[in-house]
Amino acid sequence: MNSREENAMHTHAEGAARIGIGDLRGEIVGIDTRVPLLDGTEKPYVYLDNAASTPVLRGVLRAVEEFLPWYSGVHRGTGFKSVLATGIFDAAHDAVGRFVGADLARNTVVFTKNTTECVNKLSNRFCFGPGDVVITTMMEHHSNDLPWRKNARVVHIGITPDGHPDLEAMKRAIAREKGKLRLVALSGASNITGLCAPVHEIASWAHAAGARIFMDAAQLAPHRAIDMLGDDDPRHIDFLALSAHKMYAPFGTGALVGPKEFFEEGDPDQVGGGVVDIVTLDRAVWNRPPHKEEAGSPNVIGGVALAAAAGILSSVGMEAIAAHEQEILSYGYAKLKKIKGLALYGPTDNLEEKVGVMAFNVTGMHHSLVAAILGVEGGIGVRDGCFCAHPYVKELLHVSPEDERVFTAEVISGNKSHMPGMVRASLGCYNTRGDIDALAEMLERVVKGDYAGTYVQDPASGAFHARGYEVDFSRYCSLATRPVQGREHSEAS
Ligand SMILES: Cc1ncc(COP(=O)(O)O)c(C=O)c1O
Repeated sequence: MNSREENAMHTHAEGAARIGIGDLRGEIVGIDTRVPLLDGTEKPYVYLDNAASTPVLRGVLRAVEEFLPWYSGVHRGTGFKSVLATGIFDAAHDAVGRFVGADLARNTVVFTKNTTECVNKLSNRFCFGPGDVVITTMMEHHSNDLPWRKNARVVHIGITPDGHPDLEAMKRAIAREKGKLRLVALSGASNITGLCAPVHEIASWAHAAGARIFMDAAQLAPHRAIDMLGDDDPRHIDFLALSAHKMYAPFGTGALVGPKEFFEEGDPDQVGGGVVDIVTLDRAVWNRPPHKEEAGSPNVIGGVALAAAAGILSSVGMEAIAAHEQEILSYGYAKLKKIKGLALYGPTDNLEEKVGVMAFNVTGMHHSLVAAILGVEGGIGVRDGCFCAHPYVKELLHVSPEDERVFTAEVISGNKSHMPGMVRASLGCYNTRGDIDALAEMLERVVKGDYAGTYVQDPASGAFHARGYEVDFSRYCSLATRPVQGREHSEAS
């Protein structure tokens, strides 16, 4: 029995009914939620922004509800609930390790708040010396780039014209940097093109050069089976990070998996309660990992939810999930390719090498305008912009250095109107051909200019909003106390 089957078995042992791939849509909390459109009608929401964050699985919610009466602080109390909660929380760590095929005798699972925190922690914990090198790629999310830049010299491997990391350049860089190279850090799957990198192959090159490998699995983990492999396999993954909110468990947890011996060495990057065995006025003796790396009271509910999600996904089967998503993705591309006036980014064939992300633009239209129309006239949730991967998006769009200089200066002066970008439709395990049909139908209209609203751009955010689309949000959710017009954030995943 492999570790993922073991995870699925644990889920059943915990009383969950077996659900299949066909049941997943019904298992999504809020799947039938209706949203208001510009014309005053309502429509069931079509959610195609799963690469940013996924909705909750009912099984995850059930696990949280079952746990809540027993909720208590962990690793601190002596009462029954505390002891019980500690056992469940510790087991949640193991469940996540099994989900990614980690050898738990030699590896530890550290809970954080998300992938970004995992990468920052890892970057701080590497204790890079002067001249130490991290190789990463132009394909990365900023979360797998900026934390390395903070502490090491970073070499960015370029991409091929269709968006893959350039493997020949990677090999050359690994050979060139040997001796100074401490880590190769790359994503398992891109949040822009969905492209999957051959991480195990690259791992063997990194190991041969005496370096380690980190896989940012934020986009891969919800879509594909992951096996970190045993530490004695040259293709094994040393470190891995993922986010629960992209795995149907958005309760604020991320997980960093890596060798125990790595985290046993050195000081934790954050200190305080929970990380120590004993403290004197001039000394602190660190606890063992993962406790050493989880400073302060942990997010127990988030950990329980993540483990429940891992169990459910394993039980459905990651192979079944991947096959379903591939089918919807190829249906999606078949539809989008027929729409004249759409530019599609990254490969649109050989879809087995990518997870369900489709990035596009409508020729001659601002990406944010297209996203706004899809939202308020189609009830379709997508994302637009540069998706926290500015270098990759600019490469895929062939932005010239001169254009980059101009809009960078504009952004610095507070105007994001001309920031380049794309629209992204991203799939989850529960999306259907019907969701794709809704997207394609609206895009057919958009390319023909067949939309009703007048849209105004806010220079500060770059976002467009429709004139007259004023919704009393408290009618939809009593927690909404103030209206939100358009996008108020600057840039997100
Ligand atoms: C590939 C990739 N890495 C890292 C992240 C960061 O994840 P989080 O925002 O959960 O920290 C994202 C988020 O979209 C991502 O897509």
